[in-house]
Amino acid sequence: MTRAAITAVGHFLPEDRLTNHDLEQMVDTNDEWIRTRTGIRERRILWDKDKATSYMATEAAREVLRKRGISGEEIDAIIVATVTPDMLFPATACLVQHAIGASHAWGFDLSAACSGFLFALSTGARFIESGKHEKVLVIGADKMSSIVDFSDRSTCILFGDGAGAVLLEPNTDGYGLIDSIERTDGAHWDLLCMRGGGSLHPPSYETVDRRMHFIHQEGRQVFKYAVEGMAGVAAEIMERNELVGDDVRYLVPHQANQRIISATARRMGIGMDKVMMNIERYGNTTAATIPLCLHDWERDLRRGDNLVLAAFGGGFTWGAAYLRWAYDGAAVAETAASTATHEAS
Ligand code: ACO
Repeated sequence: MTRAAITAVGHFLPEDRLTNHDLEQMVDTNDEWIRTRTGIRERRILWDKDKATSYMATEAAREVLRKRGISGEEIDAIIVATVTPDMLFPATACLVQHAIGASHAWGFDLSAACSGFLFALSTGARFIESGKHEKVLVIGADKMSSIVDFSDRSTCILFGDGAGAVLLEPNTDGYGLIDSIERTDGAHWDLLCMRGGGSLHPPSYETVDRRMHFIHQEGRQVFKYAVEGMAGVAAEIMERNELVGDDVRYLVPHQANQRIISATARRMGIGMDKVMMNIERYGNTTAATIPLCLHDWERDLRRGDNLVLAAFGGGFTWGAAYLRWAYDGAAVAETAASTATHEAS
């Protein structure tokens, strides 16, 4: 049986940090409120107006190619999960394809908000499992600062910018994506959305005046659905694969709120020591959170580790994936670090 295994991970984070104390100068909020309600201390922001999502996605993709020791020409397909594409069209994937010289690849963007990476992973895996492709790049990237209203304290404290990428390749030794669940329910689309800029409300003076080009979120209500959705689907994927807490090496959750993550871990019967969590440093980077976690924990991952990925986002969209990790991360991370040092000197 051919499975789609992750064989390399890359990332990009802007250097500029926006701390809770910085936000205290911008809106009526405070560090203590933000930390206790969300778990966030700071986030990264790509302030450079000439650089957008494709720039971050490209940097993450380049790290994947470097680590795997391949060129862009070997890539068959590129899927970019994002809600902040550089433009409505062409797709961000086209810009990444050109930038990395993936001359044989096709690609497209996938819009599923915070579940975007999970949905893209599941989609990319089908091309590998079917035998159509050998190398698929799956990227989650969002420049959330481009759609955040920095005068709205209920949303501006939550989001950050970043990108993460993985390479999917065929594996016949039992490693890779074993199962996934994907869900969508548009009944509550208006609890988390950006109304302006699409074909319903094309950009106009009015849409700008009404601040319709920014994220709108009914936080408290979304919170309720997010806990139910993310914890429920994580438990469901464990049940149907007959996994108990001890079988899981790591939960890799979407990073929207520390309290949602803790509730998911509790429902799965695993301790917080088995939860990848970097929300404190990066905030919610939407489609990038899960691959950024994989990047940050790559060093700790061993071949055969069972991972459960789970996400919930606007739409609503939610889902989970169960995968068996395919390589020893420490060796790869060390080689990558020494290559980077060598290149810098
Ligand atoms: N600083 C201080 N006070 C604030 C702030 C702030 N930044 N923001 C809101 N408040 C106030 C509110 O005005 C409210 O005051 P009131 O009680 O006087 O009316 C009070 O704090 C409580 O507000 P809530 O919105 O009820 O706060 P809550 O505990 O729900 O936390 C949060 C808000 C963090 C947004 C939470 O609801 C949440 O995490 N929601 C889910 C987010 C999520 O999972 N989104 C999906 C993924 S994102 C995506 O798909 C793009």
